[in-house]
Amino acid sequence: MLPETFNFFREYVRRAAGIVLDQDKEYLVRTRLQDVLRDHKLGSLEELRSRMDLATTPRSGLGKEVVESLTTNETSFFRDLKVFQVFKELILPRLLEARKTVRNLRFWSAASSTGQEAYSLAMLWREQFNPPGWNLRIVGTDLDETVLAQAKSGEYTRLEVNRGLPAKYLVRYFDEVDQNWRLKQEVRNHAEFRWANLHDPFSGLGKFDVILCRNVLIYFDAESKKKILARMLELLPPDGFLVLGGSETVFGLLDNLKPLTGGVAGIYTKQ
Ligand SMILES: C[S@@+](CC[C@H](N)C(=O)[O-])C[C@H]1O[C@@H](n2cnc3c(N)ncnc32)[C@H](O)[C@@H]1O
Repeated sequence: MLPETFNFFREYVRRAAGIVLDQDKEYLVRTRLQDVLRDHKLGSLEELRSRMDLATTPRSGLGKEVVESLTTNETSFFRDLKVFQVFKELILPRLLEARKTVRNLRFWSAASSTGQEAYSLAMLWREQFNPPGWNLRIVGTDLDETVLAQAKSGEYTRLEVNRGLPAKYLVRYFDEVDQNWRLKQEVRNHAEFRWANLHDPFSGLGKFDVILCRNVLIYFDAESKKKILARMLELLPPDGFLVLGGSETVFGLLDNLKPLTGGVAGIYTKQ
């Protein structure tokens, strides 16, 4: 691939998704875009580039396919198990107490990918809490329509359910459908999935008791991280929780958050 072609795709994905690809990611771009070349019977990345323009909307056509190929959608059920332990022992008990008059909880799984994070929380809730009269809603968002479609279907391959999902949850909350496993409606009812780009204003999302934004900020530059986190805080009440990935921190980005004590990195409260 010519250096200017590589730079074009770097700039394209930076504008569309805020994803910063370092100079050493040429191999990644080349390999990830092979499927797009094959699907459109194009001979080279230069030919693909010639069909695109930086101003095209990435929500359709080739631009969408290029952006979706360059996002990393890695996720799994109960990813970083300790975080779910903190939900069970601390976050959910605290919220059950704090919201006992409204009996309503709203979580946001920002950059939800194929939905395992949202559904893990829904299963944990049903398994350990789910008191009568309460309502837990989890909104999952992502900018990749392909992963959102799977999240909405609630259907997973054997490989996906073998990663992180305790066997008892598989038995209780899934039905086997052909070769795959589909989450029961009772779990799917807790979650809804929508398209959203974290770099756009968060209009129409409403307020949340917990915002999970795990393993996505690492792809953005410091300025974008700061803006996104600041806008997320506007959607959190004073006693809400912000949950980042284990290797992500608000240090140097925001100073009005307190890390939650309890030995798990990346979880913050406003108070
Ligand atoms: C590595 S996955 C993380 C999934 C899940 N949060 C977890 O921790 O397992 C990152 C997700 O972020 C999404 N993403 C990347 N840039 C985004 C953006 N600008 N707006 C919304 N989602 C984005 C990708 O499509 C991908 O599904």
